[in-house]
Amino acid sequence: MDKFVVHKSTLSGSVNISGSKNAVLPVMAATLLTDADCVIHNVPNLLDVRSMMRLLDVLGKNVTFEQGTLIIKTKREKSGRIKQPFVAPYRLVRTMRASFCCLGPLLAKRKKAKVSLPGGCIIGVRPVDLHLKGLKELGAEIKVEKGYCVADGKKLMGTRIYLGGAFGSSVLATDNVMMAAVLAEGETCIEYAACEPEVEMLALFLKQMGADISGEGTPMIRIRGVKSLGGCEFVNISDRIEAGTFIAASIATGSSLEIKGANYLHLTSVLEIAKKMGTDISIGKDSTIIVKPASSIKATSITTLPYPGFPTDLQAQFMSCLCFSKGISMINEKIYPDRFMHVAELNRMGASIQRSGPYAIVEGKEKLYGAEVMASDLRASAALVVAGLAAEEKTEIFRVYHIDRGYEKIEEKLKALGAKIKREKQ
Ligand code: UD1
Repeated sequence: MDKFVVHKSTLSGSVNISGSKNAVLPVMAATLLTDADCVIHNVPNLLDVRSMMRLLDVLGKNVTFEQGTLIIKTKREKSGRIKQPFVAPYRLVRTMRASFCCLGPLLAKRKKAKVSLPGGCIIGVRPVDLHLKGLKELGAEIKVEKGYCVADGKKLMGTRIYLGGAFGSSVLATDNVMMAAVLAEGETCIEYAACEPEVEMLALFLKQMGADISGEGTPMIRIRGVKSLGGCEFVNISDRIEAGTFIAASIATGSSLEIKGANYLHLTSVLEIAKKMGTDISIGKDSTIIVKPASSIKATSITTLPYPGFPTDLQAQFMSCLCFSKGISMINEKIYPDRFMHVAELNRMGASIQRSGPYAIVEGKEKLYGAEVMASDLRASAALVVAGLAAEEKTEIFRVYHIDRGYEKIEEKLKALGAKIKREKQ
């Protein structure tokens, strides 16, 4: 296992944002809807992408990945018949929740599926009730047996589905239901659909395969079922969470940075919060986001919400920034009320954060001090890197394999900006 050793740093220069992890994983699952070849460009080289490649392999796809391009082809028997496996095993699904997204495509295309339930994770319970509700309303028969979802999709029929849950819309449930509906008979209308750019991108991918979808990017998505889908060639969007993480690193370290290749229109809420913190944000040539932090960070309250609200996936990184602010800030975590594993670690570095239920109250300090800290999940790890770059002395971050799941070459990108960060064996 690797650890990061991080020292206080001043950053400068520009960083190129990679392709989006959360956008590409469901799109990879969507290739199960066709027997034709699919090509996806701008794919980040991440552990999660490798995990999805392994899952697709088990589900009858030949996947090659070179220089950011995935080529996905359907495997055939010696006789030329197409292979139709339909079991997504626990060992592959448990490592990554997005694997559950193969359920909708398998039901729609292969008419049956046996997909392991993903189980809980460190950021909370993370149920899949909305996925199952939507698919059942489309006509799928679903039983849960020995930790697996065993489903029959012979009679998928378009219908009106309300997909709102206790915490609002669900990204992957919207994806799963949309993918099942594209080959169902008749029209499906998903109400309270997730509006995240990643969902919109999946709809665009499906449309390029021949699906009939409208309303993507809004809470009401309409899908008219078609008989079959073809292959397509597609370019993945850039990773708004990676871009937001570099913005947080810029603010915490008080360093000006240029963020290239990100879509600033996907970052409105994040740029608003950055501005409230006193940061000067401007958009330069080729949509470069130019971040110039103030000499002192203003205390700012943040509420995480479904898109276009402030993303829960940036809550931890921005909490690290607020630890250095002047005054008291409140964070209200409305998507995952238990997503606060980083609080104890930041407090070990000298931060003053009190947690009460879904709220965290951050009292800004002039300085944090490096310590040995434990990365608990992907975004919490990124938050500790941000804090470590701004803290005095040495920070050692253990279990950085979490960060490798979702950030492409993070230490190389940071080093190129002047960060003192090293990967070492734990
Ligand atoms: C996706 C993202 C994840 C991000 C999250 C919220 C991917 C691969 N992952 O996860 O990085 O943090 O969106 O933006 O894209 N819920 C239910 N029942 C369900 C499903 C979800 O109650 O069946 C709840 C969740 O517990 C959570 C909320 O709905 O409170 C939103 O979760 P959801 O949008 O489903 O997250 P994911 O799609 O799993």
